[in-house]
Amino acid sequence: MTVRHFLDITDLTARDLNTVMDLAQADISMLGSPLAGKGVALIFEKPSNRTRQSMEMAVVQLGGHPIFTRGEEVGFDQRETVEDVTRIMAGYHHVVAARVFAHSVLQRMAAVSSVPIINMLSEQSHPLQALADVLTMRQELGDLRQKTVAWIGDYNNVARSLVEACSLEGMNIRLGCPVGYGASNSELTRIADLGAASINQFESAQTAATGAHAVHTDVFVSMGQEAETAKRLVDFKDFCIDANVMSVATKDAIFMHCLPAHRGVEVAGEVIDGSQSRVVTQAHNRMHAARGLLAHLMGVTL
Ligand code: CP
Ligand code: NVA
Repeated sequence: MTVRHFLDITDLTARDLNTVMDLAQADISMLGSPLAGKGVALIFEKPSNRTRQSMEMAVVQLGGHPIFTRGEEVGFDQRETVEDVTRIMAGYHHVVAARVFAHSVLQRMAAVSSVPIINMLSEQSHPLQALADVLTMRQELGDLRQKTVAWIGDYNNVARSLVEACSLEGMNIRLGCPVGYGASNSELTRIADLGAASINQFESAQTAATGAHAVHTDVFVSMGQEAETAKRLVDFKDFCIDANVMSVATKDAIFMHCLPAHRGVEVAGEVIDGSQSRVVTQAHNRMHAARGLLAHLMGVTL
């Protein structure tokens, strides 16, 4: 049987995404215990709060046993090869999940693994985050088809997975990125081809947020980019989401951020701590979305 991996949102069809959302919202008792007596390896080369906690709890809720391992304990390609680590772990665990610097590590894992590999964030994508983002928007906005999502900031790992998912949902996508930090033309075409109602990119936060039902952002300096901090803070100085930016979105627009957040940098305190913010629900939905995804990969159907 083919092993189903989850390295990117595009490993799911639009129909699969629906299924995962349904499983995420189903009462836990409906899911059975597909991981009973089984292990799930969680390997982190970078720090994490939400991803570790939500994955550990999702595994427990499905009857399984999560084992957290720091990257240096595994030592990908230093202590032993990525392939050796993966083949060994696949004998102990029913799923192996990893947060890595290089997306190619996940691809090498998937190439040799007899169990599903899950991406818990790479420099390229953060698909578990996008599942929680779609779940939150569905709960808040209802049917997402033809609704408008704005991404303001760096077109990074979180952005790429979010817009892939929003495209599968048939949404209008508006990107607001500084010059040099946006999506390439070929990337815009790739996203559009996944099913977006429309996709447009602007060099202004205000323009991108205009008419949006949900306004998203992320840090301006991702893990591993610390050496670029001074330059990035200058390049992104006009992209902080404040009340002025939110005022051009729809009246009931929601604000979303994958977290961790920096108040006064990518988002004003008045927005992230204000009535339009859904960041806490969004973070809690990481666990429900992870449970839905794990159940889907285990073949659970409702
Ligand atoms: N949003 C997110 O992935 O958070 P952590 O880095 O805390 O896991
Ligand atoms: N873009 C951020 C997301 C953190 C959850 C990073 O990669 O550090």
